[in-house]
Amino acid sequence: MPGTELFGAEERKEIEDVLSTGILFRYNHDAQRNNIWKAKDFEEEAKKITGAKYALAVSNGSAAIMAALTASGIGTGDEVICPPFTYIATIEAILFLGGLPVFAEIDETLCLSASGIEKAITPNTKAVCLVHMCGGNADMDSIMDVIKKHNLILVEDAGQAFASSYKGTYTGLFGKAGAYSFDFFKIATAGEGGIFVTNDETTYKLADSFCDHGHDHVGDKRGMENHPIIGFNFRISELHAAVGAAQTRKVAQIRDTNRSHKKFIQKKLAATEGISFAKLGDESGDSATFLNILLPSTEIAQRVVDEFNKAGIAGFDYWFKNMYHFINQWDHIKNLKTASKLAIHVLDAPQDYKNLHLPKTQEVIGKLISFGVKCAWTEEYMSAMADKISECVKKAMKPVNA
Ligand SMILES: Cc1ncc(COP(=O)(O)O)c(C=O)c1O
Repeated sequence: MPGTELFGAEERKEIEDVLSTGILFRYNHDAQRNNIWKAKDFEEEAKKITGAKYALAVSNGSAAIMAALTASGIGTGDEVICPPFTYIATIEAILFLGGLPVFAEIDETLCLSASGIEKAITPNTKAVCLVHMCGGNADMDSIMDVIKKHNLILVEDAGQAFASSYKGTYTGLFGKAGAYSFDFFKIATAGEGGIFVTNDETTYKLADSFCDHGHDHVGDKRGMENHPIIGFNFRISELHAAVGAAQTRKVAQIRDTNRSHKKFIQKKLAATEGISFAKLGDESGDSATFLNILLPSTEIAQRVVDEFNKAGIAGFDYWFKNMYHFINQWDHIKNLKTASKLAIHVLDAPQDYKNLHLPKTQEVIGKLISFGVKCAWTEEYMSAMADKISECVKKAMKPVNA
């Protein structure tokens, strides 16, 4: 799963390149930097994998999703349909831009469903912020039908789904703009880093300026640049970009390994009664960073978690209860607790966040247990792990079968 497993000489060499010039800043200093441009290299590597026309390396995935939203024109008072199962950064980005999150139903792809989106549309809906969760991909054909039918803007938070694709198109590139995270836990890491992508030049230029105090990045005299818009500092440093570039070069290898490991375990687990797997929009495009097991019910899933704990099985997430990725745990969002007033406090929330009716989402996340897939796993380890998982599920199923 995480690129950190494969840290090595390549990352060290990239960092040493940067230290050799002392130019840790991604822009300018053309004469001193000995033609070393790591942020640009990182962007090129991301473009090679995804096929994006434009890529912008930024300080983190949260900045990338903020840039994707604002460069797509999302701002104050705009209703943005979003999932209740995501990393909280998606919701924070919408709120800090003045947008109004509208939570809609996900399905067994762990992403927003087309019908969930359609039901959440109001006359004030401007955009959908689709999140491709757990390394997978959403059901894009049916989602794009809804986006087009209702003339909505699509922004994709593919923070967890770099290198995942649907029918040949990479996540992040179906709508106006997309975002990937390269934080410490991802398929490739920059330590802290993000990549914004788009196929549209105007959207790219807006993001490029937004992430660096409005600079237009023309010429080599920073003080003399024009500022087409107001921006902020979401720049990546050359040191982080250096690591990101080296890691991104390893992604195809990591993805291949993930896929074969995931296939191996799924095959072993498939015969166990009670185990099924989360769906993918396009299975062949999975980045396979997570093995997502679905149990028959929330009650059984909770019993499986207890059995895992008793058996000493580690490395899994039961998002329904104990993680920061699901709306049930987001009391600060439900109560709109912020350090200072946001647009949503003035304009009012479009939904009662404390009393959302999202039964399908509650059902799916209640049944879901995810394991992060690891490159280092051996067949022996995976066989033993699958056996232990099966045993635990069988025990948890017993009271049901008895
Ligand atoms: C779906 C999603 N979006 C955004 C982010 C934020 O990325 P970062 O941690 O790089 O800011 C994450 C991080 O986990 C994520 O999973």
